[in-house]
Amino acid sequence: MSDIDSTKTPEPSRRDFLYVATGMAGAVGAAGALWPFIDQFRPDASTRALASIQVDVSAVEPGMSITVKWRGQPVFIRNRTEAEIEAAQEVPLDELKDPVARNDNLPPDSPASDVDRSAGEGRENWLVMIGICTHLGCVPLGTAGDFGGWFCPCHGSHYDTAGRIRTGPAPENMAIPAYEFISDTVIQIG
Ligand code: FES
Repeated sequence: MSDIDSTKTPEPSRRDFLYVATGMAGAVGAAGALWPFIDQFRPDASTRALASIQVDVSAVEPGMSITVKWRGQPVFIRNRTEAEIEAAQEVPLDELKDPVARNDNLPPDSPASDVDRSAGEGRENWLVMIGICTHLGCVPLGTAGDFGGWFCPCHGSHYDTAGRIRTGPAPENMAIPAYEFISDTVIQIG
């Protein structure tokens, strides 16, 4: 009689898990899909806190958004349409509830102009921001609300297509993390 118990399913190996993770990733590029999962296995919290992720955005067409996890937080990456960019550019800065860009890539007093909220000149279509409402920390819904940007249904905060707070109790624009394009299609966050 065989001593192998055929009723037991072998434990999946780490390689199996990463394969499954890749399969679940959908439109998110391989680098963006794998790094957040790998990050969870890092044993040291200080290492984890410093981690950067790389996200392949080549499949993110205009009008599409993806959400990636970075340092335990959702990060929205949106490829904005021309109409969304224009709508944000047309807003006079003195109408903004929060006039500061909240962009970690710029000086702290940078104005919340559309270009300073975006990835910058030539890449105004890309908006990368922490997807957390600045009121009490809910995750807002995309392409929603009175300004066509994001809407937080928890207490009714409306953000525009540049992620700037326009009405509702949230006090600040959604935060822009430190990031850079390391190629035409890959963003490194952190
Ligand atoms: S947490 Fe978003 S409006 Fe309250």
